[in-house]
Amino acid sequence: MSEFVDFVRSLPKAELHLHIEGTLEPAMLMELAEKHRIELPYSTAADVERAYDFADLQSFLDLYYLGASVLIDEDDFYSLMFRYLKRCRDEGIVHTEMMFDPQTHTERGIGFPVFMSGFGRAMEDAKRDWGQSSSLVMCFLRHLPEESAFETLKAAEPFQGQIMSRGLDSSELGHPPEKFERVYAAASQQGYRLVAHAGEEGPPAYITDALDRLKVERIDHGVRCLEDAELVERLVKAKTPLTVCPLSNVRLCVFDSMVDHPIRHMLERGLNVTVSSDDPPYFGGYLLDNFEALHRELGLTREEARQLAVNSVRSSFLDEASRKPWLDQLSLLTP
Ligand code: ADE
Ligand code: ZN
Repeated sequence: MSEFVDFVRSLPKAELHLHIEGTLEPAMLMELAEKHRIELPYSTAADVERAYDFADLQSFLDLYYLGASVLIDEDDFYSLMFRYLKRCRDEGIVHTEMMFDPQTHTERGIGFPVFMSGFGRAMEDAKRDWGQSSSLVMCFLRHLPEESAFETLKAAEPFQGQIMSRGLDSSELGHPPEKFERVYAAASQQGYRLVAHAGEEGPPAYITDALDRLKVERIDHGVRCLEDAELVERLVKAKTPLTVCPLSNVRLCVFDSMVDHPIRHMLERGLNVTVSSDDPPYFGGYLLDNFEALHRELGLTREEARQLAVNSVRSSFLDEASRKPWLDQLSLLTP
């Protein structure tokens, strides 16, 4: 690994946009399919990898939901989560806020007690074994009706203490934020922190509506804000965090190639940008792979990497006292 990657590994970082179901590696997908005797249209892990050739968000989501269908029992959810948390330890991710999609599981008859106990046990083990800090973002699937989101909010009530925030993911186009205005208001009443995917494939107006109608504190992706100068001004002024996922954006054809990715321009413009990996095996890499690609193909500097790490810790839902040691450490580092 390059010196640049070693430097980024040494920076205490938070990962704020990571779908835990999207960390399912092809080998584990095949193993679980065999364990549960689930028929897949693939015979080997290499076949699955060959299918990672996406034209847009929907073509990825089709494979992502097929992949998630092999997650059945508590142990499956435990193993998936523990594997990713070990990766955090190895990459210098001192805190992670992980999204999960309950409706993907409840629609298959797998209830909250199954996945919440698997996730919870892995998070506790990682905390105990190496002090890993982590929290959960429960996402509503935006292609499903509002009613299903309300049912999910209700089903999550017994697990409220285990979940920090609410998010919105899945097919963006045609499912604008206003569809979820009432369920977000209800989630806010229950004390959850709020985030939403917006401006990945959807227009800048979806970002504005996520802020004004859903009252989110953080925008996931948000890269299309650049098409609206007034919105950029607003995001800069409010220091709204944007959780940008460069490898994901290239794989889902939001940008033609990494050379075209605007993240350095976004930083220069004063936007509060962070870097995350979204669904790492599907998009060709974990967090350090994203930094490495940004360095190699866009010339991301050490100082910019340090700024991105500072932004990630500041944009997390950690309280002041928990952030302070990481921010102190980052301020002492000379790039
Ligand atoms: N679910 C998993 N990854 C996603 C992404 N990048 N956008 C929307 N929904 C998702
Ligand atoms: Zn995402």
